[in-house]
This record gives sequence, structure tokens and C-alpha cells, in this order.
Amino acid sequence: MKIIEDIMAMREQRRKWQLNGDVIAFVPTMGNLHKGHLKLVEHAQRHADVVVVSIFVNPLQFGPDEDLDAYPRTLKNDFDQLEAMGVDVVFTPLASDIYSRGLEQQTFVEVPGLSYMICGASRPGHFRGVATIVCKLFNMVQPNKAYFGEKDFQQLQVIKAMVTDLSMNLEIHGVPTERESDGLAMSSRNGYLTTEQRQIAPQLFACISEMADHIIQGRRDFSLLISQVKAELVDAGFKPDYIEVRAANSLLQPGHEDYDLVILAAAFLGKTRLIDNVQIRL
Ligand code: PAF
Repeated sequence: MKIIEDIMAMREQRRKWQLNGDVIAFVPTMGNLHKGHLKLVEHAQRHADVVVVSIFVNPLQFGPDEDLDAYPRTLKNDFDQLEAMGVDVVFTPLASDIYSRGLEQQTFVEVPGLSYMICGASRPGHFRGVATIVCKLFNMVQPNKAYFGEKDFQQLQVIKAMVTDLSMNLEIHGVPTERESDGLAMSSRNGYLTTEQRQIAPQLFACISEMADHIIQGRRDFSLLISQVKAELVDAGFKPDYIEVRAANSLLQPGHEDYDLVILAAAFLGKTRLIDNVQIRL
């Protein structure tokens, strides 16, 4: 496994693969890898000749109140896991190279609409930061395919929209959420939970799964269902941020003609903000 820090070296490696006719798959990450990331790598390996995983903690997607410095950095352990999986290249660019003209001067990519709703409303500027870094990484790695977790459902929709809008020449694939045995979606943020919070955490998924069952059984009184779930979450010890039922493709409020729905949820346990979602096909 090669570790490449330099952007030019990454381009050179990419050029060699291309000459060889290799299909290149890419898994962008911010490191602190868990089984969810490794699932993305597995999917990438199954559908490509070579796999690049990037590790870059992107300052542009953190809000002023979100602690960029506290984000867990576990490079050595990340490298070991990726090496064991037989990943070809780990790309670890430096912030000073990625944002060489400074964050203030950085050209950005913004997907309107999708970026401002739901999580975007709670975290202004977040999806602009995500779209910008993902666009830049795509330009550096120039993959044929890229893999993202469905846990970050809105992020996946933003990236798909960006790729369509900017006519980017690659396929975007979503990979189902990897869960702990008690249902909790795997996330780097789970590491912030206290033992007590960790016991409560699976109730987020349990509550929205139950809500999904009601919708599958025909209930359409979404507002009532949402307030019931919020009340359950408060009782369990969460501070709900949002619970939404949306059309899965557009993330707009669903109409009667929408059969592909998604329940999107975010809730705080102490200072840790957990997100999750359940897709529903009626
Ligand atoms: O999902 C993530 O880990 C990040 O948002 C991503 C896509 C790597 C961009 O920094």
C-alpha cells in the first residue's frame, strides 16, 4: 500500500493506472476509520481494479461552533486497517496544499436547495464545505467511481447533484449504513459518547424504524408521527434536532405520488450530534 501526500504524486499515480486501463475507485474519508468505512472500501474493491482512500479532515465543512481540533485523528490505526484490506493508495493531502490560497480566498462549490435544508439548515455552510472538498479530491484523484455511506444521506444527495450539475465524469455509489448489533449506525462520533449515552444511542434508530413501520402500514399523518418520535427521544434523554419525512430523491416534502421516502433524523446526546435515516419504499 502506497501512502501519497503530494498532489502531483497522486496525479502521476493516476496517470500510470489510466495508461494501464485500470478502473479506479475512490473512497473519501476524514479518517478515524470504522467498519462503515471498511464496507465502502469492500464495495470499491469489488467494482474496480484499484482503490484510493483519502484521509483529510476538511476544515471547510466544520462550523465555528464545531470543534475541528477535537476531531479524532488516528492515522496509524487507519493505515493498518487499510493495509490489511489491500487498499492500493491512501491519499493524505496537507491542508496547506489543498487550501493553498487560504480558506477565505477559496473558490467554493455550492449545490443550492439541497444544501440549505434539513442538516444544512442546522449546519450553515457545511454542505458547501463538503461539495468543495469532494470536487477538489475528484479533480486530484480523477476516479471512475466513488463510494459514500448512506448514513450521510443528504451528503450523498448533494454529491450526486453536484456531479450531475457539473457534468463530472464518474459514477457515485451509495453504500447501506453499517450498524452495531444493537442498531446504532456506525460513526466516528460514537466515540464521543459516555457509557450511559452509548446505551441510549440505539433508540434513535429504533424510534425512526418504528415510525417507518407505521408509514408502511399506511399512516400519512407525518406531523403527528414526528412529534410522537420527538417526544419519545426527549424521554430517552435526547435533544432532537430534526425528524423529517422527505421524498428520497429530492429531499422535498413528499406528495401523494412519492413512493420512495426517507426519514431523516438528527438528535443530540449531550454534546454529540447523532444522525440516522431509514429509507421507505411504498
Ligand atoms: O463523509 C465524510 O467523511 C466527509 O464529509 C467527506 C465526504 C470525506 C468530505 O470531507
